[in-house]
Amino acid sequence: MSPDPRSFVTHLECSATGERVAAGALHNLSPAGRPLLVRYDLDAAGGRLTREALAGRPADMWRWREILPVRDAAQIVSLGESETPLVALPRVAAAAGADPAALIVKDEGRLPTGSFKARGVAMAVSMAASFGVRRIAMPTNGNAGAALAAYGARAGIQVELFCPGDTPAVNIGEMRVHGAEVHLVDGLIDDCGALVAAGAAAGSWFDLSTLKEPYRIEGKKTMGLELALQSGWALPDVIFYPTGGGTGLIGMWKGFAELEALGLIGAARPRMVAVQAEGCAPIVRAWRDGAAHAERWEHTATAAAGIRVPRAIGDFLILAAVRESNGFAIAVSEQAIATALGDAAREDGLLLCPEGAATLAAWREALAQGLVGPDERAVLFNCASGLKYPLP
Ligand SMILES: Cc1ncc(COP(=O)(O)O)c(C=O)c1O
Repeated sequence: MSPDPRSFVTHLECSATGERVAAGALHNLSPAGRPLLVRYDLDAAGGRLTREALAGRPADMWRWREILPVRDAAQIVSLGESETPLVALPRVAAAAGADPAALIVKDEGRLPTGSFKARGVAMAVSMAASFGVRRIAMPTNGNAGAALAAYGARAGIQVELFCPGDTPAVNIGEMRVHGAEVHLVDGLIDDCGALVAAGAAAGSWFDLSTLKEPYRIEGKKTMGLELALQSGWALPDVIFYPTGGGTGLIGMWKGFAELEALGLIGAARPRMVAVQAEGCAPIVRAWRDGAAHAERWEHTATAAAGIRVPRAIGDFLILAAVRESNGFAIAVSEQAIATALGDAAREDGLLLCPEGAATLAAWREALAQGLVGPDERAVLFNCASGLKYPLP
């Protein structure tokens, strides 16, 4: 019988300077003020995290334990983070002149609290709880706050959420029903982040902002690990990701490198495409300008709340992954998002969230521009259930 899975975490590392920081303690940013990344002994982990071992484990995000930071299974705070399905959009693909089998959605709306935020938050809350944190705060555009409210309730941790005043009502309702304290802010998510940071500096709570603590990204990377396993260890040609803070894109890119080091995949990588809305596209602008960092986007305007992020602390990591992968960044209009949402729902029966619909709109645009081929296997990330949004 194979031994119980265990973590092979070794240390944390500054994403900008490479400085090492000890694991096994509570952390926010690195000494240089940049995101910390978790590192593992991948040589040793490779002997345990084999295809055969994975095949014998439950189909959820915890089957990757060797390359996750949680050291003791008893520390896991879970609401049932099952594997999410890959759902093809054959009619939408054919109507665009592409191979009907080539266009696939990874539907993250099936996760607890109806979005992929469950992955990162389950991991970060498990870690925070293990370090004895009693009060957590976070800025949110909606889905992350809903997830933190739920996982905080599960862990018995008090949750304070700061969100823009026009955050979707359903998300605010979710946060409150789970017992979180909700603060509506006259500003955008980075303004909310400043309030959370000030409270953390005053010792009022732990700051769980994405990439300002090292573990949400470890949860989000499981999207990429799972995609590789579900695809028979052959990654798609291209991934379209709705990019706000970019944690999922950065996380998947990190996860692919780990899978290669473990010997589970080869050197081939998908082209990573950062999708944003025309009304809030700081990463697209920086990518076009050849910049390493993105300037704040003023006067944001998009109904896709999850990607309404004017400034991302991991901007340089998003841009690096897009460039290293030979991918690109692309912005789509509100009209194209609405049309894509309606088409996928009507033609192929899949209700996307607006952020997910943005990835379909971007794939169509990229196909028209020749940036992707009609036979290339493209995976779109639908990061939340379409049912969480007001329907047209
Ligand atoms: C539905 C949805 N899609 C995409 C995003 C952006 O995710 P990330 O922060 O990983 O870029 C969010 C974040 O709020 C979201 O809720």
